[in-house]
Amino acid sequence: MKVIQADNYEDLGKIAGEMIFRQMEAKDDSVLGLATGETPVGIYQYLAEGYQDRNLSFSKVRTVNLDEYIGMDGSNEQSYRYFMNKHLFNKVDIRKEFTEVPNGKCEDVEQECLRYEKRIEEFGGIDIQILGMGENGHIGFNEPGNEFICDTHVVQLTEDTRKVNARFFDSADSVPEQAITMGIRTILKARKIILAVYGVKKAEALAGVLKDRVTPWLPASVLQFHPDVTVIADAGALSKCT
Ligand code: F6R
Repeated sequence: MKVIQADNYEDLGKIAGEMIFRQMEAKDDSVLGLATGETPVGIYQYLAEGYQDRNLSFSKVRTVNLDEYIGMDGSNEQSYRYFMNKHLFNKVDIRKEFTEVPNGKCEDVEQECLRYEKRIEEFGGIDIQILGMGENGHIGFNEPGNEFICDTHVVQLTEDTRKVNARFFDSADSVPEQAITMGIRTILKARKIILAVYGVKKAEALAGVLKDRVTPWLPASVLQFHPDVTVIADAGALSKCT
């Protein structure tokens, strides 16, 4: 894995944003895999502020998001669809019908998982996937466990993840218990991956990802199997890697 150290949060957004711009320059109908959370907000800001200066357009770009809480639709401020509209889609010239986020309000979650996988295939696969990482090493909502679950599937969120995500809700109890997430296999099929990691709280997990053996107990470690991963991290996140 290639590792780039970012000077700070803003620099992380710039480095990752430049990689996305290069992808869009090479292919105007690129398929971008997107994440939510605090880490990518700076990336989306960089993209929204800079695309017109580059004479770039999102009009042919397609996007697929990693995950969504079950029970939420886009009108819910805590939903990932709402997050994406707010931080990126409403700020660029993207066609909303080209943006995919799992439907948390679907009637049949198993069917929704199958539909999602099929949609990614119809798009021709993901050209570049942005990933954040949880303190426990999760990517998407693929939590540590006994096995790597493969395709898009339903997950029960761990108490730890629900506690960490409580910052976006009124209370920890309001955090949904289940989500739909792309699986590890879906993620590994992306042609390029950016793993964006910020802050000392992620240092232990990142050291494991870069230096230890692959284990389902640290889901992001599976990225060692992918041929084109760029890790962009600040000094805090890299502080246990020496
Ligand atoms: C969200 C997602 C999660 C986050 C991770 C890190 O779509 O896929 O895996 O990337 O929880 O979140 P932040 O960036 O808020 O620390």
